[in-house]
Amino acid sequence: MAQRSKSSKAWLHEHVNDPYVHRAQKDGYRARAAYKLLEINEKDKLIRAGTVLADLGSAPGSWSQVASQLVGAQGKVFALDILPMQPIDGVDFIQGDFREQAVLEQLEQLLNGRKLDLVICDMAPNMAGNAVIDQTRSYYLCELALDFAAAHVKTGGALLVKVFQGAGFQAFQAAMREVFATVQTRKPDASRNRSSELYLLGRNKR
Ligand SMILES: C[S@@+](CC[C@H](N)C(=O)[O-])C[C@H]1O[C@@H](n2cnc3c(N)ncnc32)[C@H](O)[C@@H]1O
Repeated sequence: MAQRSKSSKAWLHEHVNDPYVHRAQKDGYRARAAYKLLEINEKDKLIRAGTVLADLGSAPGSWSQVASQLVGAQGKVFALDILPMQPIDGVDFIQGDFREQAVLEQLEQLLNGRKLDLVICDMAPNMAGNAVIDQTRSYYLCELALDFAAAHVKTGGALLVKVFQGAGFQAFQAAMREVFATVQTRKPDASRNRSSELYLLGRNKR
């Protein structure tokens, strides 16, 4: 076997010692990311029984698992990812690249004119290791999520979106303020401190 690099060894060490990884295995969630959404939802009460939402960048599916449990039979979860995702009860999934117009149209067809209470977006591009390229790609996905929310979220509804601090952050926050009356930042405990990842929560869509 090829020798592991220092950084992948460090990642592996962190992963096997990560309490959220253990909790996810015990609770039956597909990823530790479940606890980020659970913690944000505990504070902000975004997802309740009856909520209709879209989960962008949903694979492997822990946010969709959490969301489908919370929305119950009266609610609905529409999920999308470029990667395949194992089915989840009550979740309608589309596999496709959200940057493609045809994929967006497929999702819009599935909505069939139904307005959403909420969009949650945890999309992140494959990191190229070049900060400028990674930030640009990441904010492009965020802008697409914001456009989608602007078009399909009800007045008064919300968008929770993952962003990376750094270039593009201020401009994207300003763009969110055009669409949502309040925009707040959230950094749940399950989001690793050394990661520049942050969530922006836009509420009360104009
Ligand atoms: C951090 S993971 C999401 C984890 C998910 N929230 C969960 O709890 O299981 C980010 C996801 O964004 C997806 N993604 C990245 N670029 C995408 C694109 N252009 N279209 C659709 N999905 C994309 C990736 O395939 C990946 O599954």
